[in-house]
Amino acid sequence: MSSPFASSALFKPIRVGNQQLDHRIVLCPLNRRRCDNEYAPTDSMIEYYRQRATPNALVIMEATMISADAGAYPHAPGIYSTHQIQQWRKVTDAVHEKPGATAFLQIRHAGRASTTQFLPGAHPRLVSASAVPVPGKNELGNDYEIPQELTVDEINKIVNDFSRAARNAVEEAGFDGVEIHGANGYLIDQFINTSCNKRADAYGGSIEHRSRFCLQVVDAVVAAIGVEKTAIRFSPWSEFLGMEDATPYETWSYLVSQLEQQHPNMAYIHFIEPRDDFSRKTKNDTQNSLDPFRKLWSGPFISAGGYTTKPELAAQVADSTNNLIAFGRSFIANPDLVERLKHNWPLNKYNRETFYKGGDTGYIDYPFYESTTARGSQKLE
Ligand SMILES: Cc1cc2nc3c(=O)[nH]c(=O)nc-3n(C[C@H](O)[C@H](O)[C@H](O)COP(=O)(O)O)c2cc1C
Repeated sequence: MSSPFASSALFKPIRVGNQQLDHRIVLCPLNRRRCDNEYAPTDSMIEYYRQRATPNALVIMEATMISADAGAYPHAPGIYSTHQIQQWRKVTDAVHEKPGATAFLQIRHAGRASTTQFLPGAHPRLVSASAVPVPGKNELGNDYEIPQELTVDEINKIVNDFSRAARNAVEEAGFDGVEIHGANGYLIDQFINTSCNKRADAYGGSIEHRSRFCLQVVDAVVAAIGVEKTAIRFSPWSEFLGMEDATPYETWSYLVSQLEQQHPNMAYIHFIEPRDDFSRKTKNDTQNSLDPFRKLWSGPFISAGGYTTKPELAAQVADSTNNLIAFGRSFIANPDLVERLKHNWPLNKYNRETFYKGGDTGYIDYPFYESTTARGSQKLE
C-alpha cells in the first residue's frame, strides 16, 4: 500500500533557521513530568527524546521554566540551574546523534497558572498581567490564587530572565534554538488575552499594548541568541487556563505583522489550530482558520493540533499551505512516527493515564513498528 504521506509535502525538505530539514514532521512541545526533584531532565528523558529524533528534523522540547520564580510544577523542567543545564546537555547530545537533528527548547513563565506553594522564598509572589485568577480549581484541587499585577520593573526583569534562559539553552545546553511559549494561557498569553489583561498602563488595553510584553520578550531573545535561533508558539483559540480574546484575528494578526516587520528571519512561528481538541472545550471548530496568519508570515510556519485525531489532514495541510506539521499525542505513542507515516504503517494508541504520571511506563516503552512485526514482514507497504 503506497503512503499518502510519503508523496505529500510532509516529506519535502525545508529550511528552518540555520538548519536544512529533510521532512516537515515536528515533535510538539509535550510536558511529561519526568524530571528529578530539582526540575532537571533524567536518563529516561534522554532516552525519550533520543527515540523521537530523526536526521535533519525538528524536535521541540517541553515547556521549561526560565527561572525559579517563573512557577513550577512537580517534575517539570527548568533551565536556570547548573544541574538542569548539564542534564539538558545530555538530552541535546542524544538528539544530535542523529545527523542534522534540530533541538529547540520551549521556554516558559507560568504566571498565574502556578501556585505559591511551588514558588521559592518566604513570601512568594504569584504574578500575572492583572489581579485576575484562573477560573476553577488548580491541580491540587484548590481555587486558583489571585495573582498580583506585575510592576513595570518586574516585567523588565522577566524579559531578562527569558533572554538568560535562551542563552543557557543555546550557549550551555546545546540547543539549536528556543521556542518562546506564547500559547496555552501562560504568562505571555495572559498579557495578550482580553479575558485576563485588565491593565490600564502601556501593557494593557489596546492590542498594541497587550502585545508589548510578548514583543519585548522576542526582541530580548533575538538579541541574546540570534534571530535564526528564535521561534514562538501562539494559540489564539485555546481555552486552557481561562484564555479568551475578544478579537483573535485582529490580535494575532497584529502580533504576526510586527514579527514579520521586525524579525522576518525568525526560525519559525508555531500556531495551534482552532480545531485542536486538546486545548478547546468547543471541539471540532472548523469555522475559524489560521489562514489569515499564514498570509502575514513569510518564513516557516508550523501548524499543530488535531493531526493526532486526523492524521490524513497533515498531508492535506502540508500540501495546501507549505507548513510544517507538529504532532503531539501521536508522537507520544509512536516514537517512530516519522517512519510510520512514511510507510503508512498503523499507529499505536496513546494512553492518557500515563501522560503526566512519572516512570517509564507510557513514556519510553511504546513499541517501534519494526519490533512489533516479524522482521518487518507485516509491513503494509
Ligand atoms: C501530555 C501533554 C503535554 C503537553 N505539554 C505542552 C507543553 O509543554 N507546551 C505546549 O505548548 N503544549 C503542550 N501540549 C499541547 C501539545 O503541544 C499539542 O498542541 C496538543 O497535544 C495538540 O496536538 P495533538 O492533537 O497532535 O495531540 C501538551 C499536550 C499533551 C497531551
